[in-house]
Amino acid sequence: MSYYFSVFSIFLALSWTHFAQPFVLPKLPYAYADYAPYIDAQTMEIHLTKHHQAYVNNLNKSIEGTAYESWGIEEILLSVTSSQNDFLRNNAGGHYNHSLFWEILAPKTRQGVICDELLKEINTAFGNMDSLRKELNKAAMSRFGSGWAWLMVTPKMNLAVVSTANQDNPIMPVVENPGIPILGIDVWEHAYYLNYQNRRADYLKAVWDLIDWKVVGEKYQLARANRALLDRLVSRQKRKKKS
Ligand SMILES: [Fe+2]
Repeated sequence: MSYYFSVFSIFLALSWTHFAQPFVLPKLPYAYADYAPYIDAQTMEIHLTKHHQAYVNNLNKSIEGTAYESWGIEEILLSVTSSQNDFLRNNAGGHYNHSLFWEILAPKTRQGVICDELLKEINTAFGNMDSLRKELNKAAMSRFGSGWAWLMVTPKMNLAVVSTANQDNPIMPVVENPGIPILGIDVWEHAYYLNYQNRRADYLKAVWDLIDWKVVGEKYQLARANRALLDRLVSRQKRKKKS
């Protein structure tokens, strides 16, 4: 009995080692059509199953047979630099960024209420929700080419709006202002071209209607509680200032 148990345990351990790490495409919490009319079903489907899937495939390809295989996604993001492996940087960012994006979007009837803590902090940092929307839209509109606009928790636990190029995000050392993103808006044309063509402003107006502030509030609480990651961002900033 104990022999079979040991063999089974080894099998389980090996299986976990082998299968645990490869990153997988998350499932959308709602049907593609549920995001319409703000984002059409075809855009949602292509965005998830073609674009995001490609990032997942390429991320798995780029870590295969390397030390990264046993790393979590945040650890990978913390390690990417501008001088090494852009393939890993772009695909790790692509996977992380899109996973967050899907989580914070919901059809209007399924959206929850923002928590008091985040609402209070938004009012402190930006004045009110409308001013935050303007800041985020400004960051998204001024991003030349493809990229993201973020609302993030900074290492000092404040809220800030930033924008990054391509699939970068504020966890990466390549980005000047670090933080933990709690809301991200994808401003790659693949996120809106079918419905809005080049009208990024119209897409931004629409995507605002899909933000589930209850989820963003939960992300806010999680980011503030993630002392380990915030500390890593603080020490990185200190190192940068010294050099
Ligand atoms: Fe995208």
